[in-house]
Amino acid sequence: MRFDILTIFPEMFSGYFQESIIQRAVAGKLLDIRVHDLRRWAAGKHRKVDDKPYGGGPGMVMQVEPFYEALKTLKAGAKGDRVILMSAKGKPFSQKEARRLAKYKRLVLLCGRYEGVDERVARHLADEELSIGPYVLTGGELPAMVVVDAVARMVPGVVGKAASIAEESHSEEGVTEYPQYTRPEIFTPKKGKVWRVPKILLSGDHAKVAVWRRSKMKRS
Ligand SMILES: C[S@@+](CC[C@H](N)C(=O)[O-])C[C@H]1O[C@@H](n2cnc3c(N)ncnc32)[C@H](O)[C@@H]1O
Repeated sequence: MRFDILTIFPEMFSGYFQESIIQRAVAGKLLDIRVHDLRRWAAGKHRKVDDKPYGGGPGMVMQVEPFYEALKTLKAGAKGDRVILMSAKGKPFSQKEARRLAKYKRLVLLCGRYEGVDERVARHLADEELSIGPYVLTGGELPAMVVVDAVARMVPGVVGKAASIAEESHSEEGVTEYPQYTRPEIFTPKKGKVWRVPKILLSGDHAKVAVWRRSKMKRS
């Protein structure tokens, strides 16, 4: 699956995407992640991508032209593409949305900054707006990383064992995973304190373990 990310801070992505599961999936050609500097499509010597808001008000607003030109160069809009504007006003992102988006061939993620993005980007260029939560961040870069990460995990082969994504939190809506434990069986953080692994997990009785796990899954 391919991701194209449009941002004025492309460097922010290198650390995250060059580690662990995402890096392995890129190396294994399961994912193709391309981060583009939006200023490449900005006009003028100063490569300005923002301007003052019409009607007045604080801060600056990102202009429509650089996004328009960038999407034209990237030939975004072909069958199998989905153009998504990261926005605090958008539809809430969830595991269900991640599963839906993993069916596209390519996601093009647009990262806003400053006071936001000229509304014509949402109206005419993006297929949808997504929010990663009810709070305001300084830019769309962290939201884009969140979307890439969650969607990438749904791409067959990216996460080692299919079972681990089938059973984890939110794979069923409103249900979160059972508690997990690993060695040591008994942990003593300080004298007189003992933290034990529940006995049932040490019993070797898979049927009982499965019943216990189901009982510990949380439903909202
Ligand atoms: C400072 S925010 C702009 C907030 C905007 N003035 C508002 O009140 O909705 C700058 C950019 O960060 C991104 N952003 C901020 N919070 C976000 C969130 N919760 N989900 C997705 N993107 C977000 C968007 O791309 C946005 O254009």
